[in-house]
Amino acid sequence: MSAEKSALSTPIVIGNWKMYKGISEAESFVKDLLDQLPNPSITVGLAVPFTLIRPVALQLKSSSVLTGAQNMHEASEGAYTGEIAASMIQDAGASFVILGHSERRRYFHETNQQINLKVKKAISSNLYAVLCIGETWDERQEGKTEDVLRKQILEGLEGVDISPYLLVAYEPLWAIGTGVTALPEAIQSVVAFCQSQFIQLFGESGSAIPLLYGGSVKPENCEELLAIPAVSGLLIGGASLTVDSLAKIIEIASVARKSSE
Ligand code: PGA
Repeated sequence: MSAEKSALSTPIVIGNWKMYKGISEAESFVKDLLDQLPNPSITVGLAVPFTLIRPVALQLKSSSVLTGAQNMHEASEGAYTGEIAASMIQDAGASFVILGHSERRRYFHETNQQINLKVKKAISSNLYAVLCIGETWDERQEGKTEDVLRKQILEGLEGVDISPYLLVAYEPLWAIGTGVTALPEAIQSVVAFCQSQFIQLFGESGSAIPLLYGGSVKPENCEELLAIPAVSGLLIGGASLTVDSLAKIIEIASVARKSSE
């Protein structure tokens, strides 16, 4: 097992566009973003619909901003109508992929086992894999948060070797798209728990896995979220759809980085 640290500089700010935007809208978004922030000093990524990977990656070619996908199939290729392989998203220009997002688990019934195969495939293809985990409101109320996360981590990372291509995003489901952000104290204890699981799995080098927080992140709350020890970045849905709010978050995150140096 290698103890290599992620090559991505932190904080890491990833926008998840979900199923929004067509090509011309995406192109004017990227143009405006690059006008405001030509070369962010932190890691910034845009996880876009499959149809936008190519045009967005071409526009971002001379910038440090990364283009990513929001899902992929675990097989190299094959008769899987409607699916898309790691090599295909890479070929189109993606350098990372979000895997096991709660919307994939909930609406498309993705299991930890299937997500585990996708994580392995992404990492072995040298694609950064952002494994999403998180509990529902009911699970939290029933005191099951740690059990749910432990299972998602153990099963999602079963047989995965520690890799600089592995990232994890903690996204409590009740905070996604709801405007309700988890309280920093609650996030702090959960991310500390996740890190302890990584250390159990991978030894001390597990603590180097970048851990992102996601769920109703916006310019107004991103500074306090990034101040939480062990939070190395943010996964942003709604607030990544407008240039101004995403640019504001990137600016705040860049300052957060400078003050921690
Ligand atoms: P949100 O979405 O920022 O709109 O809550 C986050 C996500 O689903 O990744």
